[in-house]
Amino acid sequence: MLIKKDSILQKAPQAAAHVQLALDEAAIEVARRSPDDSAVASRDSVWRQDIIELLNGALATELVCVLRYKRHHFTADGMASPKIAEEFGVHAAEEAAHADRLATRIVQLGGEPDFSPDSLSRRSHAAYDDSADLKAMIKANLVAERVAIESYGQMVALIGDKDPTTRRLLEDILADEQQHAEELKGWLAH
Ligand SMILES: [Fe+2]
Ligand SMILES: [Fe+2]
Repeated sequence: MLIKKDSILQKAPQAAAHVQLALDEAAIEVARRSPDDSAVASRDSVWRQDIIELLNGALATELVCVLRYKRHHFTADGMASPKIAEEFGVHAAEEAAHADRLATRIVQLGGEPDFSPDSLSRRSHAAYDDSADLKAMIKANLVAERVAIESYGQMVALIGDKDPTTRRLLEDILADEQQHAEELKGWLAH
């Protein structure tokens, strides 16, 4: 009997350290009261406005990338590598899809996506380019992709666990930009 009692006492500190994994009922109640709001947690975040600003910077960057790739797609046509001109068109479409996903997320967070053309190049992280030479086009696109990769990497780190949905979206886009950069590097090597 005594031995049994001792063994219970020995285990006691371990049992006290256990904190039950319990859901945050208050947060669930907030979600329950707002059935039409799909981004409740993020809307209430103190970081929401900062995140919307970051997303608008990314949106401007994607829109400038669409314009640069479109310009290259049409003007590189007929040059040494028509295949690359086609790929510029594919990249333009993928950057446009990124822009759409960013704008959608900005609206989900209760913000306004900024499509204003007047301030676009000032707000974009990456630059426009109207080089006439195919190699110069590839280089300009590679620089822009590197800028995008760096800025998305920084955004992912800044957002961290503050808004996991936005972070996953940015990680997804970042993977595409890394693939774009790899393709461009491959074309430069030829
Ligand atoms: Fe993009
Ligand atoms: Fe890209």
